[in-house]
Amino acid sequence: MRPHLADPAFWTLPRDQRLAAFAQLRQAEGPAYFVEREAGRHRRERGFYALVRHADVVEASRLPEVFASAPGVTSPEPPRWVRAVFGDSMVNLDGPRHAQLRRIVSRAFTPRVLADAEAGIRELAGRIVDDLIASRADEFVSAVASRMAFEVICDMLGVPEQGRLHIARQVDRASENAGVSRTLRSRVRVPGRGLRALGRMQLTVAALGRERRRHPTGDLISALVGADVDGQGLTTRELGSFFSLLMVAGVETTRNAIAHALALLTDHPDQRELLVSDFERYADGAVDEIVRFSTPIIQFRRNVTRPHVLGGQALVGGDRVMLLYASANRDESVFTDPDSFDITRRPNPHLGYGGGGPHYCLGAHLARVEIKALLRELLSRPLALRAVGMPELGHSNFDNRVRAQRVAYDTPRRSAV
Ligand code: HEM
Repeated sequence: MRPHLADPAFWTLPRDQRLAAFAQLRQAEGPAYFVEREAGRHRRERGFYALVRHADVVEASRLPEVFASAPGVTSPEPPRWVRAVFGDSMVNLDGPRHAQLRRIVSRAFTPRVLADAEAGIRELAGRIVDDLIASRADEFVSAVASRMAFEVICDMLGVPEQGRLHIARQVDRASENAGVSRTLRSRVRVPGRGLRALGRMQLTVAALGRERRRHPTGDLISALVGADVDGQGLTTRELGSFFSLLMVAGVETTRNAIAHALALLTDHPDQRELLVSDFERYADGAVDEIVRFSTPIIQFRRNVTRPHVLGGQALVGGDRVMLLYASANRDESVFTDPDSFDITRRPNPHLGYGGGGPHYCLGAHLARVEIKALLRELLSRPLALRAVGMPELGHSNFDNRVRAQRVAYDTPRRSAV
């Protein structure tokens, strides 16, 4: 039977079953079409083509004039009024406007600039692991994964220490239902909470923006408020939506990758041993394989602007496609033995950070630096940490979220570095 990706129940299946369904779809002649029903005053049916093959995801990512991001790349799409109130973030924009906005912050994410920040990131990783060991915390996501991803972005943006707890709560609330299919009851209840969180975050950043306009400090908020786009600065709304994007994109993804890393290295002791045996040699490959295997972002959408044939399927303007990174990363025509976790995999052309093109993950290099710094600390301590039991996963068609991961500590052993 053909899997139904538009059925919310599909996204509650165990991950192995979902991956098997993608494998089945990859054998089909071309991209399969799924009908979904959209909520609204006049309920209407729309659908999407599921791009499950590596080559199709790459092609759609690199042809932005045919596969546009506007009016939205997430599903469910944010309602029009939400975009009007909270502003369009650059993920949902195309062409020169997208490029202008991305340029304001892109310098801070280049490998050269991040090389200077790396010492600070390594120090932070050290502090987080010190605290973990001192407290013997038994839940890894909150004690380590979330904290690492969040503190790094706050440092880059220039969020003062005393405001961080408040913002952490808003980020969590704003993103907790991304890609979650909603029941009628929660549709009424949940968006209110998420939107209130976004609203509060906008107010916080507006105040920070006013402060940085008066006293720029060289952080990203100072860069955003000082930006000159066609002779104009960003509006408060644009500043707020930029801030929310960097927070949500930078925190949720990396924290999930870190949480999956611990579970994967626990489940594959041979790979962990190999990494420990020569950390500097294997770490970059391990980080890439963790992102391929876990694929923290499952999919993004694109909106077709004009007739185009993709993977043998004729598309027309108005069609929508779902770029399934989670499937592309297991494509047997690209990856040998795709379901095995192998930190020595070379090459590893995974699409965990997107398929290339103008929206390719801005924070890809930063994420690599963060995950590597944390693994170095975790694997170099005499007290070994391991995941216990299965990770508690969220049900989402958007991110491969780990809500919680229990951990235990083992007796001293050989260190990695
Ligand atoms: C393991 C961690 C991460 C993963 C798996 C990930 C994944 C992705 C993916 C799949 C995309 C969409 C690419 C496309 O549409 O072609 C994306 C975009 C983006 N990511 Fe990441 N990301 C990660 C970490 C980060 C970090 C640390 C930041 C820092 C702020 C970040 C910021 C962004 C931004 C701003 C975009 C939108 C770029 C644009 O529209 O031009 N990401 N990411």
